[in-house]
Amino acid sequence: MKKKFINNKSKLLTLFVIFSVFSIFGCTPDNNQSTFGTAGPIADSQANLFLTIFAIAVIVFIAVEAALIFIAIKFRRKDGDKLPYQTHGNKRLEITWTIIPAVILIFVAIPTLVGIWSQQNGVPDDQGQVLEIEAIGHQWWFEFRYSDYEIITSNELHIPKGRPVSFKLQSQDVIHSFWIPKIAGKVDMVPLNDNYIWMIGDEVGEFYGQCAEFCGTSHAHMRFRVFVHEEEDFLTWVDQMHTPADPPLPNTPESRGQMLFAANCSMCHTNNSTTPGSYLMEINTQDARWNSWVSDTENSALVSAPNLTHFGTHSTIASGIKELNHESLVEWITDPSNIKQGTRMQKQAMVYNTRDGKANLTSSEISDIASYLLSLKPGTGAELIIDNVPLDGVIDAEGVFAINCAACHSLGDDVIVGPGMGGLKDRAGDRVSGQSAYDYVYESIVEPQAYIVEGYPPVMPAWASLGDETVNALVEYLLALE
Ligand code: CUA
Repeated sequence: MKKKFINNKSKLLTLFVIFSVFSIFGCTPDNNQSTFGTAGPIADSQANLFLTIFAIAVIVFIAVEAALIFIAIKFRRKDGDKLPYQTHGNKRLEITWTIIPAVILIFVAIPTLVGIWSQQNGVPDDQGQVLEIEAIGHQWWFEFRYSDYEIITSNELHIPKGRPVSFKLQSQDVIHSFWIPKIAGKVDMVPLNDNYIWMIGDEVGEFYGQCAEFCGTSHAHMRFRVFVHEEEDFLTWVDQMHTPADPPLPNTPESRGQMLFAANCSMCHTNNSTTPGSYLMEINTQDARWNSWVSDTENSALVSAPNLTHFGTHSTIASGIKELNHESLVEWITDPSNIKQGTRMQKQAMVYNTRDGKANLTSSEISDIASYLLSLKPGTGAELIIDNVPLDGVIDAEGVFAINCAACHSLGDDVIVGPGMGGLKDRAGDRVSGQSAYDYVYESIVEPQAYIVEGYPPVMPAWASLGDETVNALVEYLLALE
């Protein structure tokens, strides 16, 4: 019996040693999420604070263990010893062992509180021009808004080297936590309660970010990447984020993918936030998607989703889980939960409303969407060439509607995302006094944000890019509907 106990004990000890050794590997400074190999002054001060506290803990550990071993050996029971004299309470001793830890804790608390205070209370004035970013946690991805530059990105953050970045941390749903182990962190992102943190990246490179607060099924898969650039390269990136992508050439996988994206994905994913005004519009649209989801979490076809502007320049997909390439993108679009359990996209988007939950698209359609998304990069600034007009001059308005509009609008009375188009001609003329039905429908297509009917989410993209003739054909088609 005793032997078995010893055996089990040694097994446990072996396991413990193995586990400890493996855990220590996570601490090697060059590990992507190690807090020891730091790349910024804040992470540096946090690492130093940790080492200070660790040193104190080591001293306390050695002192206590040494005293324990000394006493255990010196006063161990010898043959013939009687039961020792029993005491109860010793005021001097008790005061001593209360005061010593209290002093140690005060010693630890001072640099800790100073650190927390200085990192959450805004950037000191002497640190240079501050870059302001709003970081927003969503289940399960990160959104970044650069208010100074009117740029919105998701899951990949770009910052200039050596410049202080001030983050306003928010959450749209549950509590997340913002952490870039090598640069700074971690601070909770709490709904309806903004938190702040600032940091400086002082090494050019790619760094890992991670949600550090359990936030549901895919918490462990809620990551992001941080790219620290030289100031000049950062400004180039800013410039590129304001440069629209070139439109795909006709009859290419990219052009087919663009249509499919418009029909199946564009209600939740904006992919063209490059022009003036697009920043505010995306913020409003994201709110509208959220309101739609929160008002009916089971049936909403809308859900807040990552902005995909210049997605082709990203290095990862699914919040930093996989390297971005055509293959991983196809895998992701086909069956997201294969990569990331519980995505809202798969649960809410109509295109996944199938028996097995996989996308209701053929593999070549998925491949085309992937090609299109990978082609989203800052363009050459070439003029938008829209060639929707077939040679015989007749535009297939029904086809245009099916590809571009049918994902959100039915031809009858049913509401999908936007209103049904049935009977449009009877009501379009009464919407704005002095405006004809024709003009009303035309304007609603090219500048929908000004014409959102009350009760519907303002998520419709502007379709001026279809070209004047196509929009005219579409208006005629819609007004002819019974
Ligand atoms: Cu978000 Cu954990």
